[in-house]
Amino acid sequence: MDSVKHFLQFKDFSRAEFDYLFERSRWIKTQFKAYRKYWPLCDRTLVMIFEKASTRTRLSFEAGMQQLGGSAIYLNSRDSQLQRGESVEDAAQVISRMSDVVMIRTFEQAIIERFAAHSRVPVINGLTNEYHPCQIVADIFTFIEHRGPIQGKTVAWIGDSNNVCNTWLQAAEVLDFKIQVSTPPGYEVEAGRAGLHGTGHFEQFSDPMDAARQADLVTTDVWTSMGFEAENEERRRDFADWQVDSEMMRIARPQALFMHCLPVHRGEEVSAAVIDGPQSVVWDEAENRMHTQKALLEYLLLGRVEVAGPPSRSGSNSNSSKEMP
Ligand code: CP
Ligand code: NVA
Repeated sequence: MDSVKHFLQFKDFSRAEFDYLFERSRWIKTQFKAYRKYWPLCDRTLVMIFEKASTRTRLSFEAGMQQLGGSAIYLNSRDSQLQRGESVEDAAQVISRMSDVVMIRTFEQAIIERFAAHSRVPVINGLTNEYHPCQIVADIFTFIEHRGPIQGKTVAWIGDSNNVCNTWLQAAEVLDFKIQVSTPPGYEVEAGRAGLHGTGHFEQFSDPMDAARQADLVTTDVWTSMGFEAENEERRRDFADWQVDSEMMRIARPQALFMHCLPVHRGEEVSAAVIDGPQSVVWDEAENRMHTQKALLEYLLLGRVEVAGPPSRSGSNSNSSKEMP
């Protein structure tokens, strides 16, 4: 099934593909805002598999698929055979014969890679321990809406070097901007996660104020990600000086935006004054999950369509295999 195109990490797509996706997201969002029907995925089915909790990812994929004329089915490990020993490979064979596209939120990235290797249809990463690519597509689309192209700009990441941070690191290389990261000691970016090509898009700072200096965007995430709850108390102590507050926003550029993938813990990774303040665009960011993922679903299922018009059905469904065995 090597010929099927998936979205498992941010770097799976090229800069040209993201430029196209951002353009499509803008058009799709405009249709939604004007209550115009756009149903290119009529009769298509998205299966969503959740092995971790979600509000935004489930809602944005499910609502988005419905708005494109398709349907979405929700599975979780508790109510399916996934936690009872059925192999990932077998699940992929079966699920991908009954659907047109699959979204998975799970633990190790290796799980989604194995699923994709045995899937007849495109697989989308809805968050793993290592990456959260759909989030960063929405974040960059939001940045572009507010401030124009992100190329050449500086993003400050303050806090844990987690799945969201790892995805920003990939995005900086693909889309050519700088990422300045500050984590507490012991939580630094893992070797090999960034700067693989020595491109100089990534710099690490021990002082979070240095990372925020002159940034065009300051962003952070929870101190403890899903799956790491046992470390909660220790992390609360270790991360206490890594809160994005008004003083930190003042050291960034005057026009700097603040983003957070949500859910947030006000008073931990960010102060209420910042996330509820004028530089914060977190609600646009959350809404844009839906518009950008609609563009992603359209692209994975129909390929490139005319930017301003309805999709051509001629090239449709080439990114999957429904042939008889
Ligand atoms: N940002 C995000 O992925 O949110 P959920 O965990 O609610 O899906
Ligand atoms: N880093 C967080 C993101 C949640 C959307 C987690 O993995 O729990």
